[in-house]
Amino acid sequence: MNIKVKIRRFNPEKDRKPYWAEYSLDAQPWDRVLDVLVNIKENQDGSLTFRRSCAHGICGSDAMVIDGRNRLACKALVKDLGKRIVVEPLRGLPVIKDLTVDMEPFWRQYRSIQPFLMNDDPPPYTERLQSPEARARFDETTKCILCAACTTSCPSFWADASYVGPAAIIQAHRFIFDDRDHGAQVRLAILAEGNGVWRCRTVYNCTEACPREIEVTRAIREVTRAIVTGEIR
Ligand code: SF4
Ligand code: F3S
Ligand code: FES
Repeated sequence: MNIKVKIRRFNPEKDRKPYWAEYSLDAQPWDRVLDVLVNIKENQDGSLTFRRSCAHGICGSDAMVIDGRNRLACKALVKDLGKRIVVEPLRGLPVIKDLTVDMEPFWRQYRSIQPFLMNDDPPPYTERLQSPEARARFDETTKCILCAACTTSCPSFWADASYVGPAAIIQAHRFIFDDRDHGAQVRLAILAEGNGVWRCRTVYNCTEACPREIEVTRAIREVTRAIVTGEIR
């Protein structure tokens, strides 16, 4: 079928401001938006710029705004979107070119919560064992692929990018509730600061945007509760 794709484009080396470009092409209903973008790049305009790597919803590199909603281009099917598709870069991060945004502010927030296992106990001969129940406590937040769809859909982040954002809180949750980790109080103290969890206004955009179907808002509430009560297990 023939589809029309409107893309928000911007090349800071030659454009004074962003503009809309429209492309017409044939696509199959089961094509993904990523296939459509590759088709346009290969056959109509090689300068169209976007990120992608795995093309299978794993690497998190092709999050963008598709028909007004944050999605992964490799998971959005033409048949679910119709014959007119609108594609824009993620909001709240500076545009480098077209659909490619500068992720450094996002990575800075990610690094701020110290996303690595803290445990100074002497390592055992084999792995650090954990019960299935203890593993289940933080299973959901291990599914995060750091695509930034949540953080860049959050009005609190749009208003002030110093807010650590839902993705960083999700990553903190993954370690705070891991009983092999000893850094929970360090992370809770970081997230109790002014730019931490208190900036969340329970808008739920993050939960709706997450391509991994993580209950992001609920996880943020769990971290907030741990800060207030001091209980982490
Ligand atoms: Fe992406 Fe979901 Fe992780 Fe946010 S929580 S970065 S939306 S995978
Ligand atoms: Fe933002 Fe999600 Fe909270 S959209 S305000 S982080 S519930
Ligand atoms: Fe890797 Fe889409 S290209 S998640």
